[in-house]
Amino acid sequence: MSSKTRILSVDRDHPDPMIVADAGSILRSGGLVAFGTETVYGLGADATNPAAVARIYEAKGRPSFNPLIVHVDSQEHALACVTEFGEKAKLLAHKFWPGPLTLVLPRSGFIPDITAGGLTTVGVRIPLPEVAQALIRELGRPIAAPSANRSNRISPTLASHVVSELDGRIDLILDSGPCTVGLESTVLDLSSSIPRILRPGMVLKAEIEAVLGEVVLEGGTESGPILSPGSLPVHYAPQTPCVLVSREELGQIDLTDSAVIGFGEFQLARVPSVLFSTPQWAGEHLYDSLHKFDSMGLRQIVITEPPDEPEWAAVRDRVRRAAKRLV
Ligand code: TXA
Ligand code: MG
Repeated sequence: MSSKTRILSVDRDHPDPMIVADAGSILRSGGLVAFGTETVYGLGADATNPAAVARIYEAKGRPSFNPLIVHVDSQEHALACVTEFGEKAKLLAHKFWPGPLTLVLPRSGFIPDITAGGLTTVGVRIPLPEVAQALIRELGRPIAAPSANRSNRISPTLASHVVSELDGRIDLILDSGPCTVGLESTVLDLSSSIPRILRPGMVLKAEIEAVLGEVVLEGGTESGPILSPGSLPVHYAPQTPCVLVSREELGQIDLTDSAVIGFGEFQLARVPSVLFSTPQWAGEHLYDSLHKFDSMGLRQIVITEPPDEPEWAAVRDRVRRAAKRLV
């Protein structure tokens, strides 16, 4: 385990090659580097190095059965990680890569068991920011990267979030500023005949269906078998108790010593609060708001139910994992 974590500022779109080379050499020697993607900060290691990947699980306190996503810089690179990259994968990659869509496909021998949590499949995506792509190119191999937080905590969308979660446990943090999407990627399982969304994200079900021309299943983790181990209901939770209420209930509960996160358009109580009117805005800032309110030592964080529309699916999913329904 690292005793000292270095932090280097780097331009997201034009990263200094010297800094990228420095980060690449840490990865090459089996170290851990946190870096910004468009979704959340990832905790990166060489995906093909089992010892390096083991350090990810250790630094996060993550159970070894929870598979990691591998990040590649091109479709050719993705092909090396899988045994099949069929027509559906090609169409989706063409439309959404680089971007916040992870494709779960049959795993090749290039990706070790530990990286995939022992599964026969692997999740692959090309991240959008140049800094992330440059780092993958520099290593010349895929980078395994879960969100750069301790297991079961809120994902980081700023380098400062990574510092508070993992300082002293990893080698380097590349600070490229805030993540622009702010919620984790959509995870789509293409390994069986009917595509299934294991985790909703900002690439929507309808957008995937528009490309594939067929129905995509959603979820399956609530009552059925655990398909995506990271989709356990308790996840992404702050330490301050979080309660989920309807807008009507908000007017009826005691808000002393509370903060409020609301969605849609309405009048907020006079307590620390944020109000998000669009899913994009909510996605970008939800985690930062949770991080901020969580650090204030409040009695509770009150969150209102996001709207029911499909564009809010990812926000609804994260909010429901973070908060308990008021009973
Ligand atoms: O946006 C993201 O996906 C970020 C950035 C860093 O790329 N990464 C991320 O990784 O959120 P993580 O490990 O925090 O979440 C990955 C999710 C977990 O729920 C995991 O169980 C699921 O994807 N997953 C990964 N590989 C899988 C596989 N082969 N089969 C099923 N689920 C998988
Ligand atoms: Mg995570």
